[in-house]
Amino acid sequence: MSVSSPSSVDPTRISDLPKLVGTTATVSGWVTHLRSSGKIAFIVMRDGTGLLQCVVPKKEVSEATWEQFGALTLETSITVSGEVRTDARQVGGVEMGLKELTILGASALDYPIQPKEHGVDFLLDNRHFWLRTPRQVAIMRIRNEIEQAIHDFFYERGFLRVDTPILTAAIGERSGLFATEYFDEGNAYLAQTGQLYGEAAAAAFGKIYTFGPTFRAEKSKTRRHLTEFWMIEPEVAFNDTHANMRLQEDFVSFLVQRVLERRPAELTEVGRDVSKLEKVKAPFPRIDYGDAVAILQKKGSTVQWGDDLGAEDESLLVEDHELPVFICNYPKKAKAFYMKENPDDPRTVLCNDLLAPEGYGEMIGGSQREDDHDKLRARIIEEQLPVEAYAWYLDLRKYGTFVHSGFGLGLERTVAWICGTPHIRECIAFPRMMHRLHP
Ligand code: 4AD
Ligand code: MG
Repeated sequence: MSVSSPSSVDPTRISDLPKLVGTTATVSGWVTHLRSSGKIAFIVMRDGTGLLQCVVPKKEVSEATWEQFGALTLETSITVSGEVRTDARQVGGVEMGLKELTILGASALDYPIQPKEHGVDFLLDNRHFWLRTPRQVAIMRIRNEIEQAIHDFFYERGFLRVDTPILTAAIGERSGLFATEYFDEGNAYLAQTGQLYGEAAAAAFGKIYTFGPTFRAEKSKTRRHLTEFWMIEPEVAFNDTHANMRLQEDFVSFLVQRVLERRPAELTEVGRDVSKLEKVKAPFPRIDYGDAVAILQKKGSTVQWGDDLGAEDESLLVEDHELPVFICNYPKKAKAFYMKENPDDPRTVLCNDLLAPEGYGEMIGGSQREDDHDKLRARIIEEQLPVEAYAWYLDLRKYGTFVHSGFGLGLERTVAWICGTPHIRECIAFPRMMHRLHP
């Protein structure tokens, strides 16, 4: 069933209703709750901007309207008209005394998501419906707030946003690649990072950031891995690794403060302990990789100098801190080829991971970039990467090389930490994981 009603005014939304108390209003939405005593009925509906309770006294509505009520099922789309009244007990502080009810689209009785516990696989199979539920709406609004805050942060600081290619020939990180045939050019790879293009853009524009989807064909089934995730990658000319970390802590503090200021209702909906977030203000502690290994060994970890740090190690390292923690200057062998050799200890590189508190793990990976042409070329060969594909990248070191650094913030991991959700699959509208391509 479909209805079209060309209208000269924009539809009223539930969030507009507090301004319309005392008037008659008309709104459209979907039924989320129904109950009736036989004499008085209640419809709770949602429209994506809020919830509205409509009160339907049998005596005060027409027989036809009362019958319409009887035909409602969960998720039926409806239009209601009636008087907007103050009711302090309701979310939004208003309710509607219903006068008219129109069914726009019926909803079959077997709507998959019922008011009961569902397993997560079932919910993911029904993600197109799961998204309609209050917790999911809150997470997506917080995600949107973070996305907007990211753009505001960089815009206010004079960064240029650069959109880097998703189909690439060059390779960025070590983890798995998704390949697709590309006409006569051989394989194209879905971008794992926009960074290398970001570096070229930094030489053109000074301060840039990218904001786009990135892809990793990793066979990881952890609560922190998606095969498609969104990454924000600033790249700044003439910033060294220290300036890079200052930018990261200012950035993360800004994002957290913004959500606290503008999304308190959503943080309540997801059950977040905001007292933990309120403490997140720069500066963040910095721990040298070597010291981190010593701390971990004292805590009983089997990690050895030279190893990359795993999820368990990361949790152990943050357990004594309330702030995100920088782990600095990892061994060269554990990190990507493009990181700058540490002049004070050439076994290591000038880089950092930023670990989120409360065991949410690595939220950011950043580094100063190798700006020495020959050292970079040697690292590319050492890693057995195809030097030809990196010719343009090496050129950046041939024509006016420059100190520069940048980082990548994983959006879903950041949303997961700020919302306090255990798994990042809830932090993107339609998650892509090793065993999930639908819906
Ligand atoms: O540490 P990564 O691999 O760093 C880079 O890609 C660099 N090119 C960034 C840069 O310096 N411009 O990834 C950066 C962040 C991680 O810290 C994590 O938050 C997120 O991206 N990330 C993932 N998020 C979800 N699923 C995955 N499979 C992820 N892999 C990385
Ligand atoms: Mg990393």
